[in-house]
Amino acid sequence: MPVASGVVAELFQAPKGTRDVLPPESDRWQRLVAVFAGVMGRAAYGLVQSPMFEDIGVFQRLGEGTEVVRKEMYDFYDKGDRRLALRPEGTASVVRAFNQHRPTVPWKVWYLTPCFRYEEPQAGRFRQHHQVGAEAIGSADPDLDIEVIALQHDFYRALGLSHLSLRLNSMGSPGDRQAYAERLATWLGQRLGDLDEADRANVADHPLRVLDSKRERTVAVVADAPRITDHLSDEAAAHFARVQAGLDALGVAYEIDSRLVRGLDYYTHSTWEFAAGALTSAQNAVGGGGRYDGLAESLGGKPAPGVGFGAGIERILLAADAEEALLDTAASVDVFVVDVTGGGAGRNLTFELRRNGISADRAFDARSMKAQMKVADRSGARLALLVGEEELAAGTVTLRDLRSGGSQTALARGDVVHEVAARLAR
Ligand code: HAM
Repeated sequence: MPVASGVVAELFQAPKGTRDVLPPESDRWQRLVAVFAGVMGRAAYGLVQSPMFEDIGVFQRLGEGTEVVRKEMYDFYDKGDRRLALRPEGTASVVRAFNQHRPTVPWKVWYLTPCFRYEEPQAGRFRQHHQVGAEAIGSADPDLDIEVIALQHDFYRALGLSHLSLRLNSMGSPGDRQAYAERLATWLGQRLGDLDEADRANVADHPLRVLDSKRERTVAVVADAPRITDHLSDEAAAHFARVQAGLDALGVAYEIDSRLVRGLDYYTHSTWEFAAGALTSAQNAVGGGGRYDGLAESLGGKPAPGVGFGAGIERILLAADAEEALLDTAASVDVFVVDVTGGGAGRNLTFELRRNGISADRAFDARSMKAQMKVADRSGARLALLVGEEELAAGTVTLRDLRSGGSQTALARGDVVHEVAARLAR
């Protein structure tokens, strides 16, 4: 609706906890995603795209014990009275899609997605963040745990990050996990008074969340809690040993952390997190993952084990800043076209260059030669092509080399693409 004259329209800002990604930062995003696509593509993972929202039930299977489900979901009713939610993470939708389409296994896919969580925003924590991630579904082979962990590791390396540490744990089989949760609840129940008050309510129903607590009093208590790695079934212990041996063989350094339970309830067997040394500890996880052998079934599908990870783009870029990796490169065109005859000749020339694979930009608004040349200099282009009245009449274009003191050559209009391509190749 147009604003009535004299009324000052509200200047809108991006919603709290979200941010705009503009050039040149967006150029870093593109490069990050290209590196990820390369690493995953070479390992035969294909891109999967699924809807940004799902029936809320899909995400409720992440576990009623998780903050993501209990407090942070962006849920709503649509006009058809369906209860939907924006995805808080990538795995549930991918497993829903696996159940629906029943592809051949192992199904190896990667994704790039925004995730929505109603969290209290702070540095490195957003209400809309973005993940690149991968899932391998349909096989319980520990070599797939090893594969996805090593690929995640190689992705960070390919970005130029080196100050990362990997913590690894096993949640055991679903039975181990359940038995451990009960053992832990009993143990914590005997120390209720020593725990931070805010964590006490979780002891009976969600004891694993207590292990995850960052509150000082609780951290001190759980330091002595029973460790899940001391209570693994033989099968789970063998799986875990195989994963460790595989990572050793591939030169992926890790540290076992039996208190690493992660924030989502679907994990069985391997769980892990990569942390950036350069970031403050509350938001230093640049990615995490694990195996989720019961998730497909809990979403109504046939049993299908799976394993994967998600990595937060915003946090990776913060870590990259700290390590001076993945630096901004000024995205510049090769050619800048300046036209002081009205713009039509310059427009046609610009498109002819682009259609021949040469990057080119131009000035708009029929500005003066001086003003257009300023834009040309700022553009970072190597060459400028000038069209004035004289050139137009003579059927020529003046080529100016912006990097070598502005030397000029007159070119016949029909030779421009060929000449420019030859100069750029030099
Ligand atoms: P997650 O640990 O909840 O796991 O998130 C993965 C990564 O996303 C985190 O390590 C962090 O880098 C980033 N992240 C999470 N929340 C935020 C936030 N509020 N602001 C900024 N970055 C954030 C998952 O989402 C699982 N789906 C990973 C997975 C895939 N497990 C198996 N397959």
